[in-house]
Amino acid sequence: MTQGLAPERIVRLERDAVVLLDQRRLPDEELELRCRTSAEVAEAIRELAIRGAPAIGVAAAYGLALAAARGEDLDTAYDVLVSSRPTAVNLRWALDELRAEPTAERALALHEAEVERCRRMARHAAGLLRPGSSVYTHCNTGALATGGYGSALGAIRAAWEDGLVAHVWAGETRPLLQGGRLTAWELEQLGIPFSVIADSAAASLMAAGEVDAVLTGADRIAANGDTANKVGTYALAVAAAHHGVPLYVVAPTSSLDPDTPTGAGIPIEERDPGEISSRFPARNPAFDVTPAELVAAIVTEEGLHRAPYTASLPVPVRSTR
Ligand code: MRU
Repeated sequence: MTQGLAPERIVRLERDAVVLLDQRRLPDEELELRCRTSAEVAEAIRELAIRGAPAIGVAAAYGLALAAARGEDLDTAYDVLVSSRPTAVNLRWALDELRAEPTAERALALHEAEVERCRRMARHAAGLLRPGSSVYTHCNTGALATGGYGSALGAIRAAWEDGLVAHVWAGETRPLLQGGRLTAWELEQLGIPFSVIADSAAASLMAAGEVDAVLTGADRIAANGDTANKVGTYALAVAAAHHGVPLYVVAPTSSLDPDTPTGAGIPIEERDPGEISSRFPARNPAFDVTPAELVAAIVTEEGLHRAPYTASLPVPVRSTR
């Protein structure tokens, strides 16, 4: 069994703060950031000190519990947290789960359930790979992105433990290098053989027969299976389809948005152009939408879902209170 990052090391609630491993500093420095108000948690999410769709949901849940413990106005805390990033639907889902009972116990239970969902979907997804597979992944979908274990990278980890993975291609993921910094760091810790490559090398690797499957996560999946994920996923999906390489989306049901019929309705975050170029005019969409027809299967904790996704996708879990 590989040893991954402990969930409480990624993000946890202490008496007076939400404490998180500052992902902006990785892999060079392992520093913790203490957020003492819900506004500071929102700032940490906005600035990517914690990032990845499920992980920002977990952080926001802890942020709302912190706000309640501090006696902050909860409507204001909810609004500040929910607007910290627009694309990942997990943020709203987690805050809605916490709203009726914003306690530390409830936030911890949500965190533990997200990690458990990752373990379950990893088992489903691992079964898609044949022995000796070379797998391409984009951005970071590991423990750091989910609060523990990981989605697409969790599936790669489970498949590696089953002896199915020969090599991982970690696309570096311009502009903020979540692949080159965070996925590489996690793969190194897990002892899984990998190479970081430039995003623009993916198609030629596929043409050379060096990619057996592409596994990505998701920030939001519309009712029809259109999937928003880190910018560059769409280009990967086009290249994969051209070369007959299956692209699987691995994401928990907290990333499903049945209220949004198609990808056209998913808000795409535009970040500071300075992240692209400090010298020249730039534009910085952080996500793109991969049309459902380019997705071979969506894997959630409930199992494998194939097109037509309007019929096959489950509904997101909702607390029964
Ligand atoms: O901008 P980020 O780093 O938050 O983007 C994260 C991604 O796009 C991930 O691939 C996605 O959230 C899935 S996380 C399991």
